[in-house]
Amino acid sequence: MQTLQTTSLRVVDNQLFILDQQALPQEKRWLPADSVALLVEHIHALRVRGAPLIGLSASLLLALLAENGANRDVLAQSLETLRASRPTAVNLMNNLDRMKQALAHEDFVPALVAEALRLIAEDKALCDSIAQAGSELVKPGSRLLTHCNTGGLATAGVGTALGVIALAHQQGKVANVWVDETRPLLQGGRLTAWELGELGVPYQLITDSMAASLMGKGQVDAIWVGADRIAANGDVANKIGTYSLAVLAKFHGIPFYVAAPQTTLDPNCPNGEAIPIEQRAASEVTGVAGSFGAVQWAPENAQVYNPAFDVTPAALISGWVLDSGVVTPEQVSGGFFAR
Ligand code: MRU
Repeated sequence: MQTLQTTSLRVVDNQLFILDQQALPQEKRWLPADSVALLVEHIHALRVRGAPLIGLSASLLLALLAENGANRDVLAQSLETLRASRPTAVNLMNNLDRMKQALAHEDFVPALVAEALRLIAEDKALCDSIAQAGSELVKPGSRLLTHCNTGGLATAGVGTALGVIALAHQQGKVANVWVDETRPLLQGGRLTAWELGELGVPYQLITDSMAASLMGKGQVDAIWVGADRIAANGDVANKIGTYSLAVLAKFHGIPFYVAAPQTTLDPNCPNGEAIPIEQRAASEVTGVAGSFGAVQWAPENAQVYNPAFDVTPAALISGWVLDSGVVTPEQVSGGFFAR
């Protein structure tokens, strides 16, 4: 395969490398991800993370394994192992469905390579279209709030919600971005803060629990988040903490936008209740660990509940900003996502 480089994926000499998102921003470290076991480990550890990126990394690895000589049976098995690596983000399943079709080709090696490269190119284009559509909703002087990380790190392009914010900034419309640190794994504090800094977008980092008082004080004009899965009724699974922001936004009359590409849609999933929610290790809540070190503050045997995502009901969402444009609550009620 040709040499390839996105913000957090790299292919050199037919080997896949990932930018370790657990080491950022303290360290910019590229790690090999040239076997299924390695990539699955990176995905579990959130070194590779973000709904679009998970699917793209798995697709690229399959294509590279094929080029490096794996047979059809091994590839079929690898595909299923990768599909099971994280349950909530449907981009992984949607991308791998396309790779499965390519694997069925008689000449499956070039078919897989072409499909993986197509998925990467498409994701870039989807991000650009989302940014265009979303930036039109951003009013001059906006103070925006975002959660988790939805930028170039999480996609092959400019990102989803963060792509909207970056473009609106280039258009001179962003006064400030409130960045939720996003407990427990701090994707906001570590990754979004880093990306916004690199892009020169003015931001202030807050703990998740500060969002309510900011909204109460009239300091937030709109909320922009990404999505891991959008169900047929418009319910959205996204990083834990998103639902509370949506409830707060409703109470304070603040627009709440979800930005996502078509690869995040799951018309076969009737509603949010049917979205599988990943449960994660207790250690992520009893303390914190990263390239900055590790600390535990809870008692050794503390009982923990740690869902990685929550579901925001469609009724709390002001607009779903897709690559195809802005979808309104009326369109969603009319079955837009069920098609
Ligand atoms: O657990 P993560 O970091 O993979 O969760 C990521 C999110 O929830 C993002 O908001 C979502 O994947 C959209 S990324 C463009």
